[in-house]
Amino acid sequence: MMGEQALQDSLHRQALEIRQRAYVPYSHFAVGAAVEATSGKIFSGCNVENASYGLTVCAERIAIFSAVAAGETRLLRLAVVADSPEPVAPCGACRQVMAEFGVKQIFMYNTAGQCKMVELSDLLPYAFGPQQMKGAAASE
Ligand code: THU
Repeated sequence: MMGEQALQDSLHRQALEIRQRAYVPYSHFAVGAAVEATSGKIFSGCNVENASYGLTVCAERIAIFSAVAAGETRLLRLAVVADSPEPVAPCGACRQVMAEFGVKQIFMYNTAGQCKMVELSDLLPYAFGPQQMKGAAASE
């Protein structure tokens, strides 16, 4: 079993590493992310942009979807890094995707090495989830 600090370092390192593959010809804002699954495995992702700007996918979602594609749908912690003045905060869409797969904690970094740890419940209070659709079928 990896200790807390070792795990956090691993997430940070893998997020930094994959950030080098960010495809960002439009924004030039490279982002890297890495997520830990309950199995202990780590999956990473970088942002991938498109000439049709709205099709861009964030680093966090690439990391999470890559975990899901590998059969890991229960996730725990995620690290994200970018060259921002403050540790970079995930966008709203990614927060919702994190909620779907149970991400609890987010380690936000900038390339200067500053880190801020936040709980997803603080980033996305009153999250929408499947429990709110209960009863939908019965009331049809
Ligand atoms: N981006 C991410 O990949 N993650 C974030 O947390 C913030 C935004 C990307 C999307 C786009 O490629 C670029 O950063 C600028 O918005």
